[in-house]
Amino acid sequence: MEIKKVGVAGCGLMGHGITQVSAEAGYEVVVTELDRERLDAGIGKISKQLGRAVEKGKLEQSDADAVLDRINPTLDQGEFADCDLVLEAITEDLDLKLDLWKQLSGIVKEGALFATNTSSLPVITQAATTDRPENFIGLHFFNPVQRMPLLEVIQSVASSPEAMAAGLAYGEKLNKTTVETKDKAGFIVNRLLVPYLLDGIRGLEEGIGSIEEIDLAMKAGAGHPMGPLTLADFVGLDTLDSIAGVMFDEFRERRFAAPPTLRKMVAAGFYGVKSGRGFYDYSGEKPVAVNPGL
Ligand code: 3HC
Repeated sequence: MEIKKVGVAGCGLMGHGITQVSAEAGYEVVVTELDRERLDAGIGKISKQLGRAVEKGKLEQSDADAVLDRINPTLDQGEFADCDLVLEAITEDLDLKLDLWKQLSGIVKEGALFATNTSSLPVITQAATTDRPENFIGLHFFNPVQRMPLLEVIQSVASSPEAMAAGLAYGEKLNKTTVETKDKAGFIVNRLLVPYLLDGIRGLEEGIGSIEEIDLAMKAGAGHPMGPLTLADFVGLDTLDSIAGVMFDEFRERRFAAPPTLRKMVAAGFYGVKSGRGFYDYSGEKPVAVNPGL
């Protein structure tokens, strides 16, 4: 199963990064979005990052142009027909994902690999709605995709060894560190990271420190690049809440349950960096901690 042409459904936070790293690795990439505005915004982010790399002298202008030339942004899912791998990076909503896969089953050529970038939803539920459950795996990237080395390659109960081998080969071509894992909610990284982030919020609720103190402590004491509350804002509080919900449903353990503060902030529309406010306010030059009013 050789992959030459990649399709990416969704050009948001994760989709634009997956599109960029795939095109940088030499793949032809078709990328779709729901509307022109979202598509242009995602391609704009890729152009900006390539432009910055050229300014810093890390990339030749001709190479940046070649990366953009390999990307075909379109609103027509029909363009996925001859892709060898189609990856979804749309909203973490199972019904939306199932609808997408039903449509793509009728469009994409037989033998092509399908993959979901879900952070916690079951891979097999999505695979089972397609015409090729054996050719369906999870490919879980990390934010920012251009920067984080890891790619989790997830085997569902139906994924064939050939599909896993093709997913691993794709990850290696992207120069990612690949780790094989199983279809259990949260896989490896979120299984460990999500309870830690939730505990950071619970610690804030219990008064172990202020927002800045909790973040500073984990940076200075454990060598993390970001403290847990900064990282929660970076991942997206809405995303964190939804991952916690899926993991709590699967494992029924308190450590996966979203703390009340997280629920309330999400209800208020405080989603973190993407909405301009979470545990920090991002409207100024530097993020400023905002007490969520516990
Ligand atoms: N998008 C693309 N590139 C970015 C970026 C972004 N959002 N942020 C930073 N970069 C790039 C910069 O362009 C720069 O590239 P260069 O070295 O080629 O010039 C490089 O990263 C370093 O940038 P900075 O000096 O500005 O930033 P830092 O050194 O402070 O690093 C960071 C930024 C890489 C984001 C670092 O803070 C970090 O590693 N944070 C933790 C991120 C993390 O844990 N991610 C995983 C989240 S969990 C997840 O995604 C799973 C999901 O299912 C929830």
